[in-house]
Amino acid sequence: MENKERIAIYPGSFDPLTNGHVDIIERGLKIFDKVIIAVLYNPAKTALFSVDERLDMIRKSFSSHSNQSSIIIDSFGGLLVDYARQKNAVAIIRGMRAISDFESEFQMALMNRRLSRDVQTIFLMTGLRWIFISSSIIKEVARFGGDISGMAPHPVKCKMKEKFPLLNEK
Ligand code: PNS
Repeated sequence: MENKERIAIYPGSFDPLTNGHVDIIERGLKIFDKVIIAVLYNPAKTALFSVDERLDMIRKSFSSHSNQSSIIIDSFGGLLVDYARQKNAVAIIRGMRAISDFESEFQMALMNRRLSRDVQTIFLMTGLRWIFISSSIIKEVARFGGDISGMAPHPVKCKMKEKFPLLNEK
């Protein structure tokens, strides 16, 4: 029998990583031998954090993870399917929170399928406790000094404090 590692890519903006993302990564690790967390380098989109800052926060957040050898942290530009092919990935993981995610995710998955038959998109449900969490909502709360504890990993909270001085009062 062929002993081939099953690699999945978990792509995203991760601006920044949230506990919802962490939950999806942990679910992905139960299915695949390796999960590549791939931060999109997208010069067309304004982000709060640079790609290097986002990678650094992700690295720190997983630095003592029990399954660290199965997690690869990387960035990519261009088409996701090309990156997936380059990494010999069999799957693209996307998190699904609510129906509102469905339309754009469905469109993206079908486009990726049209572009490549070699990679399957799989959707994983986040845990109920993360259903209302997104990078955007966390940024909005933090910008106005709201407490984001328990919504994002500790290294993310620390970095957010550098961007949003109001958070230092928490
Ligand atoms: O976290 P996000 O912003 O929802 O992630 C979106 C992402 C990075 C998965 C998507 O924008 C992407 O794959 N971009 C790469 C360009 C590409 O392949 N586009 C065609 C598929 S829609």
